[in-house]
Amino acid sequence: MTTGTLALIILVAILAQVGVAAAIGIHRRGGQSRNLAADEPAPDMPTNGTSFSGAGWTGFREFSVQRRDFEDQSRSICSFYLVPCDGKPLPPFRPGQFLTFRLGVDEPAKDKPKNIVRCYSLSDSPRPDCYRVSIKRVLAPPDHPDAPPGVSSGYFHDHVQVGDRLMIRPPSGHFHLIEDEPLPIVLIGGGIGITPMLSILNSVLERGVEREVWLYYGVRNGSEHIMKGHLQALAERHDNLHLHVCYSAPGEDEVEGVDYDHHGRVDLPLLRNTLRLARYQFYVCGPKPMMESLVPGLEEWGVDSGDIHYESFGPATLTKHEKPTSAASDTQPVNITFSRSGKRLSWNPAAGSLLEFAEANGIDVDSGCRAGSCGSCQTVLAAGQVEYGQQPDADIEPGHCLLCIATPSGDLVLEA
Ligand SMILES: Cc1cc2nc3c(=O)[nH]c(=O)nc-3n(C[C@H](O)[C@H](O)[C@H](O)COP(=O)(O)OP(=O)(O)OC[C@H]3O[C@@H](n4cnc5c(N)ncnc54)[C@H](O)[C@@H]3O)c2cc1C
Ligand code: FES
Repeated sequence: MTTGTLALIILVAILAQVGVAAAIGIHRRGGQSRNLAADEPAPDMPTNGTSFSGAGWTGFREFSVQRRDFEDQSRSICSFYLVPCDGKPLPPFRPGQFLTFRLGVDEPAKDKPKNIVRCYSLSDSPRPDCYRVSIKRVLAPPDHPDAPPGVSSGYFHDHVQVGDRLMIRPPSGHFHLIEDEPLPIVLIGGGIGITPMLSILNSVLERGVEREVWLYYGVRNGSEHIMKGHLQALAERHDNLHLHVCYSAPGEDEVEGVDYDHHGRVDLPLLRNTLRLARYQFYVCGPKPMMESLVPGLEEWGVDSGDIHYESFGPATLTKHEKPTSAASDTQPVNITFSRSGKRLSWNPAAGSLLEFAEANGIDVDSGCRAGSCGSCQTVLAAGQVEYGQQPDADIEPGHCLLCIATPSGDLVLEA
């Protein structure tokens, strides 16, 4: 081969690479605008706003527990199958959405049960007769071992039996599968954050569409591995499912490659090593450290932020990347007037969300999920503006704000 031929081959190779990179770039930009359709109504689904809540009924509806099953070896996760007491068909939901429950929980030394509100993701594909949620028992945190265990999850595990009645709001939430998008899907679930992924996975595979699905599931070990048999059976049955189970602390008798696929957590190196170069839609839900490393990590890797969908199950773990523009970011004090309580107080960023601030100052406000999902903390904003560190899932009425995920943009008057 002459030097001239060699130079020509190198030039052609470089031009080909530039062409592929440009094509991927165009494809990604195209995706950005397509993702704006994320909140378009599902064809068969009535909606009353962008979060698809209110589909089928308003307020709370009575359901009965038809069945309950433990889903892991350690019996820390229990599924509840819920049928409507009025016998009418259930509205469909978008896989990834959640239900909001109101529970009457007995309190020691009080004669009346206390109402608490919590959200739980639907963990199966939509069907007209039954909803399913899968609930993990929450224990006291390791740094507060003397704290009382989780109220709602404990109530479900210890008290909610077949035949019991529960009050439930309709499916809602902005975190859901974008159904009319042909892109391959990457589902990443950490711990109990797997539940919305199960709904998405079951829906896609049941529909028989040949859409490629990658499921990365991170869990401590086999004792907490949810629906292990079901997931393995799906992977055997469907060539388009690529299942990657990661154990961060496998048991001594658990063998990598046999009982699980990877030792460690679901992290960016694993994704980079296992996903081929293509455009995907990512769906992520998991504990705080996972969300805080993976979501920005994906963006740094070059994934368009419009292709990354995520949800947190607790108080906001991820904040927007934009620089705060509010007075709250300055050192100037911000005055919050709670008009009903007759209190005028000075807020600073260390005080946290407006809900935390109100509670710390003895102001009585309702709350539930503390994650912008259930709408319990919605409060009239009589003057001023707030900003949200994450996208609210609950529909906010005009002139109101969600205290649990809001911080002030300047002085405020709240009707609380
Ligand atoms: C949209 C959404 C979907 C969700 N989906 C699911 C799902 O599918 N499955 C699921 O299992 N969960 C899900 N969750 C989480 C769920 O809603 C509850 O947050 C979870 O069950 C814990 O609620 P709890 O009432 O049991 O715990 P809480 O009573 O709220 O307690 C939470 C933690 O605080 C600790 N604690 C209590 N008091 C103190 C104190 N004084 N000091 C320090 N610590 C204290 C408790 O020990 C516990 O560890 C979801 C949440 C959201 C927002
Ligand atoms: S407490 Fe649920 S939205 Fe604020």
